[in-house]
Amino acid sequence: MSTAPFLIQHLEGKSGGRFPVWMMRQAGRYLESYRKIRKDFTFWEMVTQPEVAAEVSLLPLAVLPVDAIIFFSDILTLPYGLGLPIEMRESIGPFLEKPLSQRGDFDIFREFQAKQHTRYVGQALEIIKNKLSPEKALLGFAGAPWTVASYLVEGKSNKHFAQIKGWLYRDPSDLFKALQPLADATVQYLKHQTQSGVDAIQLFDTWLCEMPRHIFKDHYLPMLNQIFHEMRKEKVKTIFFAKGTSHLLPDFKDLACDVLSVDNLLDLKTVDQLTEGNFSLQGNLDPVMLLKAESGLVRKATRLLVQEARGLHKPAIINLGHGILPNTPLENAQAFIEEARALWL
Ligand code: CP3
Repeated sequence: MSTAPFLIQHLEGKSGGRFPVWMMRQAGRYLESYRKIRKDFTFWEMVTQPEVAAEVSLLPLAVLPVDAIIFFSDILTLPYGLGLPIEMRESIGPFLEKPLSQRGDFDIFREFQAKQHTRYVGQALEIIKNKLSPEKALLGFAGAPWTVASYLVEGKSNKHFAQIKGWLYRDPSDLFKALQPLADATVQYLKHQTQSGVDAIQLFDTWLCEMPRHIFKDHYLPMLNQIFHEMRKEKVKTIFFAKGTSHLLPDFKDLACDVLSVDNLLDLKTVDQLTEGNFSLQGNLDPVMLLKAESGLVRKATRLLVQEARGLHKPAIINLGHGILPNTPLENAQAFIEEARALWL
């Protein structure tokens, strides 16, 4: 019988003597090896060619002893695979010429067939799994319905989320009915990933900060929990990432996930208290610290973070509060990972 990866065993309370560590966006532009490959392909070419996506996913391991590999893709791969014309524009990010604007526009997600529309994701995961040593965890992921929809309805990253919030305030029931087929497609997409070998999945809800509390409680929490309940049946660990959501913390305790990924504004101890020790916590060094500080300061901050993690109810995962930034010096990323690994539980 094969043993579970270190990070999974750790979450199950089988102490390995130290905390597991990895970084969100670890397969990205701060790596010279990534920038080199990126010159030869567009973003979507990298995502849709399994050999390339697998190679890029594994790049961090050549320079950083992380405990988990997240596969290289994007939260918009699902709608892109389904055929929505999403462009990745330099310095703008995801861009959609004709944003979705009404409930009927979301019916397209009823047609989603993960094995057909995102076959390359399963293929990339299988390649990675074969190459990855068994002590490293393979992480799958998807965007959460609210954050994916915010890109599809706005058409691009923006400040005010005026279109989707306009819809939310006008007719919340209608918006959440529109999101349901997307939520169902997300479950199918994540199941495709678990069947292709992932050990845990992370659901990214970057723009949840924009949702008022009563809407979250009444409409969105049940939708998120539907996703987590379905994933529990697959017997994989579930991680939920959101940022700027201190207003939702008292309701987060009702989330049916295993791990909460905490941003760098909150401290782990407060989140642990407000969620009544229900979750393992993941986080939460400020990515700007990695970008700007001397490596000595990065090491010191990592020691303080691990110190805090020792006092939590459940076994924590050391990570950043959000994705690593493109111009981060590799030396600082190495200082963070090495320091976290050198410290005892
Ligand atoms: O973590 C990893 O290394 C795995 C790969 C991954 C990417 N995007 C690769 C990517 C993951 C998990 C994501 C998630 C993602 N994508 C989120 C949620 C997490 C977060 O950071 O908040 C969001 C909101 C997106 C949407 C997105 N994709 C934006 C806003 C952008 C453009 C901004 C930017 O960073 O350039 C992307 C493009 C993107 N996704 C890149 C990468 C490595 C940059 C592409 C390039 O090489 O030009």
